[in-house]
Amino acid sequence: MSKKKVAVLGASGIVGQRFCQLLSDHPFFDIPDLYSSQRSGSKKLLDILRVPDHSIADELLHMKMELLDTDRIARESYDAIFCALPSSMEENVELRLSELGNRIFTNSAMNRMRIDVPIVVPEVNPEHMEMVENRSGFIIANGNCSSIGLALPIRPLTVLNPIHVEVTTLQAVSGAGYPGVPSLDALGNVIPYIESEEEKISTEVPKMLGTLKEGRITNSALRIDATCTRVPVLEGHTESVAIRFDKNVDLEKVRNLMINFRGLPQDLKLPTAPKKPIILDSRNDRPQPALDLMNDGSGRSDGMAVTVGRLRVSEDTVRFVALSHNTIRGAAGGSILNAEILYSRGKL
Ligand SMILES: NC(=O)c1ccc[n+]([C@@H]2O[C@H](COP(=O)([O-])OP(=O)(O)OC[C@H]3O[C@@H](n4cnc5c(N)ncnc54)[C@H](OP(=O)(O)O)[C@@H]3O)[C@@H](O)[C@H]2O)c1
Repeated sequence: MSKKKVAVLGASGIVGQRFCQLLSDHPFFDIPDLYSSQRSGSKKLLDILRVPDHSIADELLHMKMELLDTDRIARESYDAIFCALPSSMEENVELRLSELGNRIFTNSAMNRMRIDVPIVVPEVNPEHMEMVENRSGFIIANGNCSSIGLALPIRPLTVLNPIHVEVTTLQAVSGAGYPGVPSLDALGNVIPYIESEEEKISTEVPKMLGTLKEGRITNSALRIDATCTRVPVLEGHTESVAIRFDKNVDLEKVRNLMINFRGLPQDLKLPTAPKKPIILDSRNDRPQPALDLMNDGSGRSDGMAVTVGRLRVSEDTVRFVALSHNTIRGAAGGSILNAEILYSRGKL
């Protein structure tokens, strides 16, 4: 199959630059066209680059940001558009472009809870894409970065009938975009509130874990309560999770379900798929953002696995700590993996 023509909207931002990194030399997608606001307009990616340790192709580094203009973008006839725009924009760019026949893979919360927009984590609910994939234009959303890092380790345990999840997040400052949280607020501090984040986790994860029937998603009945905090970590969201089941559970069984968990991206051997979506670490002092964030070690999929540690079982409750990369697995990498699934099915 030939490579597909793609664009990144919001390419100058934290997530946008991750898109650039992950789309560089991509086997399915051509070097993307890059769009931003007036603020970064005409600047080269190289001049505003904030992604550490990247291996972005020279051609892409020297590309200039184009000014985001919906009509112009629609005329370009992209095969897929990756969006990393703020949810607060006046114009609903994603909706307009999808109505004009574009296939949108987005990270913003702008359209996530719309009835006609699936929130897809590639290993969790790829079947939800069937709801839109035959339309000429559609939006496929990523969940919030913490929702993604939570849905992945819950997914293999759904066979044990979970009924309630209690999660406390310790979220990195990069989760707030650039320039994000002022350093005087963040350094040496913990902020015990992130606006709208707890509601997003409580509503998005049941949608991701829901069932698709006759073109509609019925949310899972799983109840999720969240407390979200911001901590002075650059990248990587840590989540302390307790899941209660409808009966007592066995530690060995839980461990095996997590270790053996694989999804469609692994079956299809997609370029951005981690070898294992969940890496279980039995060391008492892991996972740590400073040590475990880029787990996987296979290059293009670095940062795509969720690392789970501190796994404990007490009667009907499983407890663990999960670490996920907020701008890779929780954002750009997730969208690209969704697009890789549709490419491999000939739907792009
Ligand atoms: N950061 C994370 O960990 C994370 C994880 C998951 C999802 N998300 C979501 O992903 C989206 C992007 O987040 P981010 O962290 O990358 O934010 P960011 O660093 O603030 O980047 C925002 C991007 O949008 C562009 N933009 C802003 N207003 C615009 C306008 N009116 N017209 C055109 N372009 C505009 C900016 O261009 P300029 O540079 O020109 O201003 C920039 O490229 C948000 O919806 C966020 O909630 C973020």
